[in-house]
Amino acid sequence: MRTTGLWIGGEWVPGAEVVPLCNPHTGEVIAHVGWASEAQAEAAVAAAARAFPAYRALPAHRRADILLHVAEALADRREEAARLIAEEAAKPIRLARQEVDRTVQTYRFAAEVARSIYGEAIPMDATPRGEGHVALTRKEPLGVVTAITPFNFPFNLVAHKVGPALATGNTVVVKPAEQTPLSALFLAELFAAAGLPPGVLNIIPGSGARLGRVLTTDERVRCVSFTGSVRVGLAIRAQAGLRRVILELGSNSPLIIDRGFDAAELDRIAAEAAAGAFAYNGQVCISVQRIYVHQEVFARFVDGLAAHATWLQVGHPLAEETDITALINQQAADRLREWLERAVARGARVVCGGTFDGPVMMPTVLTDVPADAELNCEEAFGPVVTVAPFTAWDEAIAQANASKYGLNAGVYTKDLERAWQAAARLECGGVLINQVPTFRLDHMPYGGVKESGAGREGVRYAAEEMMETKLIAFRTGVFA
Ligand code: SIN
Repeated sequence: MRTTGLWIGGEWVPGAEVVPLCNPHTGEVIAHVGWASEAQAEAAVAAAARAFPAYRALPAHRRADILLHVAEALADRREEAARLIAEEAAKPIRLARQEVDRTVQTYRFAAEVARSIYGEAIPMDATPRGEGHVALTRKEPLGVVTAITPFNFPFNLVAHKVGPALATGNTVVVKPAEQTPLSALFLAELFAAAGLPPGVLNIIPGSGARLGRVLTTDERVRCVSFTGSVRVGLAIRAQAGLRRVILELGSNSPLIIDRGFDAAELDRIAAEAAAGAFAYNGQVCISVQRIYVHQEVFARFVDGLAAHATWLQVGHPLAEETDITALINQQAADRLREWLERAVARGARVVCGGTFDGPVMMPTVLTDVPADAELNCEEAFGPVVTVAPFTAWDEAIAQANASKYGLNAGVYTKDLERAWQAAARLECGGVLINQVPTFRLDHMPYGGVKESGAGREGVRYAAEEMMETKLIAFRTGVFA
């Protein structure tokens, strides 16, 4: 059984304590993981700060080559990386392979970004006082970026922070999720082999509660990029002062389904909604959680959705046919069970699922869920979806907007005017027409409004957040 260390300053360092890491599905110990102390977090920040002056001066084509090298090395080791995700996150292997493929794309996009960081020419003579001046803007890296990443995409959501940060000349300290450190540590090897200078990327598994202060308040840290809960996001925001803070937080994504679809089309939408709600047990920030369906097609849609939910296979994450596995831990299952029981006590109807086997929750479809029940209001982050009927389009939009969150929303309609009304009026970061909100390509801007966060990811957009715009102005013709 291996014991992992911390990657600081281009070297493996033993952690201050060693913690067993379990496969969430089987409960078996798969590694012993060294966790960083506060002093080691400070050492990682110091290494990143030392590496910054030389790295920011590395030409863009060299940064791009390193990122491309990592993308290609990861593609070559696809199966090994996917198995790591399946084992530590209990992600079904087919989805784990998809995640690795997306991660390869994310690093390729980051390489493109590195080669295309443009400034602007400012039209100084737009005002009389500007006559005789020329000016341009230059994009500059911020310095040390800390990346605090979640368990649900342990390769790709690390890539969404590390890729843009390195593309733009920043140096990085990653604190991966406590449940999924192995995927992040795997990167150390890839970047070292690609020629990334020591200290530019540092990876320190450990407790968020213990390391958070250093990673958000150390004076050398210039940007904190966090994906996770609203509670932690708000704490980071409160501590971070004037640092750049990028927050990707929760959601309970809505999906609106209009009338006017025939039986085959409705079945296709039900299949897509089931995939959007239950993939990786719903542990995705943009999982479909609340579905609003036109009254005319409501009953047929609910039957179709339940059928697709029931066909999903529960099994071991490494088995090819598996769709549903254990949630990340027993607490997640216990929380969902409580929310389900409370909703049912208030009149919710369980159409399918609603049962648990230890940390596994069967894909669950509910109707008649009170609007203020947790399963409608909070982020479930589990394989459960609520379905409610509507008659007027305005009502559907209002119900979808009746949430403290606003990340992605999906809309199925054949009516162009209704599609536009939804696109313009839904309060969220992204509206997907004739698609589930769970659909994401890695170069799309991605982020939320309201309690879903602040700032945007999606490689080019995250890169913008991680740079300063410097103005350089010249007065011309004054000195001969
Ligand atoms: C997330 O859960 O925030 C990321 C979803 C994705 O990248 O597909």
